Amino acid sequence: MRYLVCLLVGLLVGALVATTAANILNRRDPYPKALMNVMKHELGMASAAADRLQCEEDRYAMSKLAMMAGDIEIAMPAGQKPDRVFKQYVENFRKAIYKAGDTPCPQRAEALIELKNACDDCHRDYR
Ligand code: HEC
Repeated sequence: MRYLVCLLVGLLVGALVATTAANILNRRDPYPKALMNVMKHELGMASAAADRLQCEEDRYAMSKLAMMAGDIEIAMPAGQKPDRVFKQYVENFRKAIYKAGDTPCPQRAEALIELKNACDDCHRDYR
């Protein structure tokens, strides 16, 4: 009997803690951060491949970045309508992606630094 009571109390407390934790975690939309972290990963992969002069090893990184750029304005700025400056940063970022993607491998690493700068330009104002 004592075990049964302990088990029930344990289940109840567990359920309470789980719902509280879920509520706290849900309060903020995880999508913007997730999107950004995946972009960071892709940029890192592309840069590593370019540094080894083996851009073809990560030929999809650039197209994935271009795809994700299309989602920035959907994901951010959190809950607000993107303003003109934000849109401009997204546009500059997109241009930098296409430019880097079209750059031959020996110069790719440099173009990816410009791309990284386009990330930082937006972060300076909006992060
Ligand atoms: C047009 C604006 C914009 C561009 C371009 C942009 N970011 Fe962000 N980034 C943001 C904003 C806004 C946040 C803050 C998001 C938040 O805290 O919810 C952010 C946050 C981040 C974070 C932190 C996420 C976390 O877990 O807290 C990383 C990493 C990041 N960006 C990487 C990048 C990389 C890499 C690029 C370029 C390949 C990039 N971003 C391009 C606006 C931008």
